[in-house]
Amino acid sequence: MKKNRRDFIKTATIAGAGLALAPKIAFSNNRSDTMVRLGFIGLGLRGVENLNNALNRNDVEITAICDIDPKRVKIAQDKLISAGYPKAKVFEKGDYDYRNLLDEKDVDAVIISTPWLWHTPMTVDAMKAGKYAGTEVSAATSLEECWDLVNTHEATGTHMMILENVNYRRDVMAVLNMVRQNVFGELIHFRCGYQHDLREVKFNNGMQPYGGGVLFGKKATSEAQWRTLHSLKRNADLYILHTALAPLPFMLILTGGTDLFRLLHMPQNHADFMIIL
Ligand SMILES: NC(=O)c1ccc[n+]([C@@H]2O[C@H](COP(=O)([O-])OP(=O)(O)OC[C@H]3O[C@@H](n4cnc5c(N)ncnc54)[C@H](O)[C@@H]3O)[C@@H](O)[C@H]2O)c1
Repeated sequence: MKKNRRDFIKTATIAGAGLALAPKIAFSNNRSDTMVRLGFIGLGLRGVENLNNALNRNDVEITAICDIDPKRVKIAQDKLISAGYPKAKVFEKGDYDYRNLLDEKDVDAVIISTPWLWHTPMTVDAMKAGKYAGTEVSAATSLEECWDLVNTHEATGTHMMILENVNYRRDVMAVLNMVRQNVFGELIHFRCGYQHDLREVKFNNGMQPYGGGVLFGKKATSEAQWRTLHSLKRNADLYILHTALAPLPFMLILTGGTDLFRLLHMPQNHADFMIIL
């Protein structure tokens, strides 16, 4: 079982590398026979960016959109209209209206771009409703939530994918390529962490998304509204998947590394992997 999973990751990584090298093949303009009907849950800065990306494709339809903030719904709907698409069905009546979106028959899959605490409950509900879910990072905020995702997938057979994009960044792909070509030799130790100056993300002036003031919580806007509160309550590297834990296991597996690694978690600063061979 373990070997299969490792082989799968190895194949998927190599396939991913191929796609990054040949994006024109993956995103060509030939109309696809298979249309995927998408619902968007969470239309903040990232949700609308994800929606923009979907609008660039010719194999998806956007049939439903959801956010508790009507201003964000309007921004998304306007984008659909100005791109020449039909209006999407709107779900904006409170925190759990997304469940009504999940009941829609003309939604095959959902993109979830909400605050972190919503990721697992929404993804679990999506899988239970038989909708594939693309969930923004981090997807889970505790070990229990990670198991909720695994258990729900195993019980329902519905897939979810964490929308971790760092693996496909040009510099990260370059290092992955070097690992594949054995430039570094045997990899036995990784040190990694989410290195991002977040001051302008965590504080703003309540009008613009990044910086310009020191507000956080209800009076702030976008991520400073909810993300900063995590830093007050949780002493940990809160975004470890992003830039750190996501790319490294692939590199480890590609070098024929080990099944065993130990994560020494250094709160706030970095994580340290000791690889046991
Ligand atoms: N992969 C990346 O590079 C990347 C970049 C930026 C953000 N993100 C992630 O994307 C997610 C969203 O970030 P953001 O910057 O868009 O934050 P944001 O605060 O701008 O947007 C969150 C949106 O979710 C909505 N929302 C909250 N509760 C809801 C509910 N119950 N039902 C429906 N909508 C609800 C809010 O009204 C808001 O519009 C986060 O997980 C963040 O970490 C990822």
